[in-house]
Amino acid sequence: MPFRPQALTAMIALVLTLVTEGRAQPVSADTCEEALGGTNVTVLLVADIGTFTGTAEGFYYSQALQNTTTLDPGLTSCAIRTFGTIFGQPVALIATGIGEVKAAICTSEVLQCGDYINDIIFSGTAGFTPQVGGAVDPSDCTMPNTMGAPAKIGDLCITPFAVNWNCREGSFKEACAAFPNQCGAPGYDLGPDEAGLYGQCLFTTFNQADLTLSDELISAAQAPPAANELGVAYATPASYLTSYQSTYWTMQSNASGTNFTASPTLTTTMPNVFDYTVCAETDSQYFWTSLPWDYLGRSYIAMTINEALNMTSDASSVLGVSAEEGVGFLAALYKYAGMTNGRAIPHTMIRSASDYTYLPVDYDVRFLGENIILGGQQD
Ligand SMILES: *[C@@H]1O[C@H](CO)[C@@H](O)[C@H](O)[C@H]1NC(C)=O
Ligand SMILES: *[C@@H]1O[C@H](CO)[C@@H](O)[C@H](O)[C@H]1NC(C)=O
Ligand SMILES: *[C@@H]1O[C@H](CO)[C@@H](O)[C@H](O)[C@H]1NC(C)=O
Ligand SMILES: *[C@@H]1O[C@H](CO)[C@@H](O)[C@H](O)[C@H]1NC(C)=O
Ligand SMILES: *[C@@H]1O[C@H](CO)[C@@H](O)[C@H](O)[C@H]1NC(C)=O
Repeated sequence: MPFRPQALTAMIALVLTLVTEGRAQPVSADTCEEALGGTNVTVLLVADIGTFTGTAEGFYYSQALQNTTTLDPGLTSCAIRTFGTIFGQPVALIATGIGEVKAAICTSEVLQCGDYINDIIFSGTAGFTPQVGGAVDPSDCTMPNTMGAPAKIGDLCITPFAVNWNCREGSFKEACAAFPNQCGAPGYDLGPDEAGLYGQCLFTTFNQADLTLSDELISAAQAPPAANELGVAYATPASYLTSYQSTYWTMQSNASGTNFTASPTLTTTMPNVFDYTVCAETDSQYFWTSLPWDYLGRSYIAMTINEALNMTSDASSVLGVSAEEGVGFLAALYKYAGMTNGRAIPHTMIRSASDYTYLPVDYDVRFLGENIILGGQQD
């Protein structure tokens, strides 16, 4: 066969083109700017594009994003990558997809352009413990907990910390030892602090910049509408939400003899903001509900907050935020911060209460004297 240099060159060029086009994500300086829409960008991450709830978690951000560019879906492992400007600032609005695995994969991809990122905020909805410390505490099941502030649907938790709820080893018998008493804490042998078994489960590393960013968002969320930058009022909650909430707390009040509905945290029209000293994400891919699982999540959150901030909280003084992505997002950020060309990027997470992690609990007189509390009584 005659040697045909031109044909060979053409073939190599074709192969190179295929290889280049097949790359998941461009990493050179020029292409990072193309992928993020700037050189000093605020990255807003969300998880659900609407497959779960019907409304994308980035819906309101995307309404504010101007001059939007969307990356070719074939070039990203994220669910959707867009960028544009909000108030003239470059912002990348990226949906990771649901769950810790997708959050970690997408965040890692975005961090390939970490030099171009100013800060990262992960936002989404979550199941909230109905009140700080829960309605009853397994350490004293004789009384409702009247000390903790109730949370409203729409209230916020702003924190850079998360714990993996699934990092646990134990038997079914241990976990359900108190059944049917909902006031019993599930037992286990090894928990989230066993890094040798599960890898990292407590995400407690932070810089002052992370707390500063969190504090800025906390202040902004608490500013009255006239004083906030948008100059708009918070959306009026839908009537089915206020009705659900009012029924929930009336049932809990009726069941416990404590008038929760009188709490200022339930009657305020603004969202209450719980900060990183009181709440954190307790992430799982098990969509659990019930008081014992919530108690477990709160005990892990207390472990997390205590490790992060050298506090002495326990399950009775924190609020659980049941979500999925924080541990994946933070695992990617922590790895990047430890890499030779990486850095610690200021970050935090905002979660908004979309539901409560357990139904109202009731004292069951059939078991009087045994501190039996049943969850989920609806009739
Ligand atoms: C990036 O943007 C932030 C916020 O506007 C600003 O404080 C910071 O100085 C900028 N950094 C660079 C390197 O331009
Ligand atoms: C919108 O984006 C395009 C392309 O990046 C840019 O040329 C244009 O100036 C932008 N317009 C505004 C109003 O930011
Ligand atoms: C609460 O108790 C009152 C008085 O017994 C009753 O009328 C009301 O229906 C109860 N509300 C709920 C939501 O259980
Ligand atoms: C509970 O408090 C609310 C608000 O203050 C009040 O309207 C309601 O009557 C109270 N209920 C009881 C049973 O005291
Ligand atoms: C943590 O707090 C305790 C007091 O509760 C204090 O004695 C100790 O020095 C603190 N440790 C650090 C590292 O700040």
